[in-house]
Amino acid sequence: MSDSRRLRIAIQKSGRLSDDSIALLKAIGIKLNIRDRLLIAHSTNENIDLLRVRDDDIPGLVMDGVVDLGFIGENELEEKMLERQAAGKAADFEVLRRLDYGGCRLSIAVPNEFNYESVKSLEGKKVATTYPYLLERFFKESGVNAKAVMLTGSVEVAPRAGVADAICDLVSTGATLEANGLQEEEVIFRSKAVLIQRADGEISDEKQALINRLVPRIDGVIQAKE
Ligand code: PRP
Ligand code: ZN
Ligand code: MG
Repeated sequence: MSDSRRLRIAIQKSGRLSDDSIALLKAIGIKLNIRDRLLIAHSTNENIDLLRVRDDDIPGLVMDGVVDLGFIGENELEEKMLERQAAGKAADFEVLRRLDYGGCRLSIAVPNEFNYESVKSLEGKKVATTYPYLLERFFKESGVNAKAVMLTGSVEVAPRAGVADAICDLVSTGATLEANGLQEEEVIFRSKAVLIQRADGEISDEKQALINRLVPRIDGVIQAKE
């Protein structure tokens, strides 16, 4: 079992944020013994346990106080906040730092043959996405009547599969869109990685002291790169 006195930090197991998050933890002096198959990694020099999970689960783990800190993309964080608000559930957390990696944008893209002129071109269309709340908010703000179709993966194949007319997904290099014959048309959210902390008042003084010792080291690492 895990020791509740150890600080728990959640990071993405594999994906855009994993390598940079581990590199940052190492750069601030946390020694980690990460084995690929293991969900949990114990630090050998600090009272820290690392939980390696799907990025989508990280905001909820922090908001529910299952972990103390999380490294997460603002896109996942904002989506989870909107989801919890819609369900009338609490969404407490504190952003400790905005980080210098994990940059990407959430964009609407359409098949190359789609005659796109403006957001009005989406009127009455179906848009496949893993981020239905962010997408619905965009539709609302743009005054467009379109439908968000939730898919947890392979969003980029939805138009070809006849499941949707367009997609709304993360873009960084644009290679995925290009490979699937899709054209980026609207950026609806810009995201970077952030470090968040649970804000339920349940953190012990010892853990808070450790966090207060770690955060300035993160600032140091980021400044050294600038
Ligand atoms: C995103 C998105 C695309 C890819 C786009 O997935 O779903 O698959 O990145 O990147 P590109 O523009 O550089 O080709 P990602 O693996 O980051 O997130 P996910 O695992 O949470 O879907
Ligand atoms: Zn994800
Ligand atoms: Mg993906």
